[in-house]
Amino acid sequence: MSTAVSELAHVAPAGTRIDAHGRLTLGGCDAVELAREFGTPAYVVVERDIRERARAFRDGLAARHGDGDVLFASKAFPCTAVYRLLAEEGLACDVASGGELSLALAGGFDPARIYLHGNAKSAAELGQAIDAGVGHIVLDSVSDIERLAAIAAERDIVQDVLVRVTPDVAGDTHAAISTGQADSKFGFSLQGARAAIETLAEIPSLRLVGLHAHIGSQLFALEPFQDAVRALAGLGSFPVYNLGGGLAAAYVAADEPPSIDSYLGALVDAVHRHLGTDVRLLLEPGRALVANAGVTLYRIESIKRNVSTWVAVDGGMSDNLRPMLYGARYEALIADRAGEAPSMRCHIAGKHCESGDVIVRDARLADPAVGDVVAVLATGAYGHAMASNYNGALRPPIVFCDGGRARLVVRRETYADLMSRDVG
Ligand code: LLP
Repeated sequence: MSTAVSELAHVAPAGTRIDAHGRLTLGGCDAVELAREFGTPAYVVVERDIRERARAFRDGLAARHGDGDVLFASKAFPCTAVYRLLAEEGLACDVASGGELSLALAGGFDPARIYLHGNAKSAAELGQAIDAGVGHIVLDSVSDIERLAAIAAERDIVQDVLVRVTPDVAGDTHAAISTGQADSKFGFSLQGARAAIETLAEIPSLRLVGLHAHIGSQLFALEPFQDAVRALAGLGSFPVYNLGGGLAAAYVAADEPPSIDSYLGALVDAVHRHLGTDVRLLLEPGRALVANAGVTLYRIESIKRNVSTWVAVDGGMSDNLRPMLYGARYEALIADRAGEAPSMRCHIAGKHCESGDVIVRDARLADPAVGDVVAVLATGAYGHAMASNYNGALRPPIVFCDGGRARLVVRRETYADLMSRDVG
């Protein structure tokens, strides 16, 4: 890679290169050709990147703590090709709704290795999960306990459950994605968890196997994860602990999240210290598995100067809501001239009817021109997952690349799709 891009090696997917013509290649495929073949905007996913991270989690956990499992937090990238890939890599998965459960099953996950979450599960979702034979269900409230107890009793089965605890530990992240603080909409308070544990002992249709905690997302510091483990230890001893996800991904050059290995080291140390060695340990990474594998390709539609230079592309908040929701920062480059040093400071704007629809503020691009392909890095997590049809946008296709071959795994929406539910 050239200097400009080598600074982004930890943000770009594994194996990203600049070819002899100075063009960006992703998974061995020319990004400009991908844009031509599949249209823009398009989500490109480098399979190898996800596989390598999945193996680092799986093997790293196995090396440190034999009895454990890595669950893909599938809300980060729910499409069957991603589910299938992670099932192939031997991961389990968590789902947060009946919709994600359907996708996980279609993606080939063994139901016994699918785990259901949710702070407002419907009776239908609970029934769907039991009927599918999910491994365990994570209980989030007293209503959840009462409902699931009745549904399981009706079916005459005993359902394994975990209790989700909000451990009163807040990591340093955007407020919208912090979940471990005492006043959270997720899980039971420490006191509430004690009561829930006592209640569950009296319910024959539910078997409490352990505790769950997820303190938040995009966390760089490891101490809060360890503090959460210590908080769980105060609730008694259980066979299973699920410590959630939350490990940060590198979105911009300056981001230096802990490696998967050091994250696992810190967590397993804390578990051995506070919970013992004889427990089953589950982890639930989402973005740390899939964020960096994804690159969104756009085409430049217009360039203007209104105090700043505004480079407008053919997508925006309908395919990546994160800048608007969390002020998230991204790196972008011109795929046609990825080897060139950036020459111009500009804002990369989306095409939607809102001033806040800016994908990258203060981007530095190499001589951008209308028709160029812009690649925005690290869009694999929560991009497709939170995409919308705002302004009648057609949600982008997903293209998997590996070893120089590209294949479509989700097609672009059509105007017919837009109207398919409109029965008025
Ligand atoms: N486990 C549970 C129970 C969760 O709620 C989440 C994320 C995860 C695991 C995975 O977290 P991760 O490893 O991806 O940080 N839309 C936001 C992120 C919301 C995360 C919700 N829960 C974003 O784009 O940043």
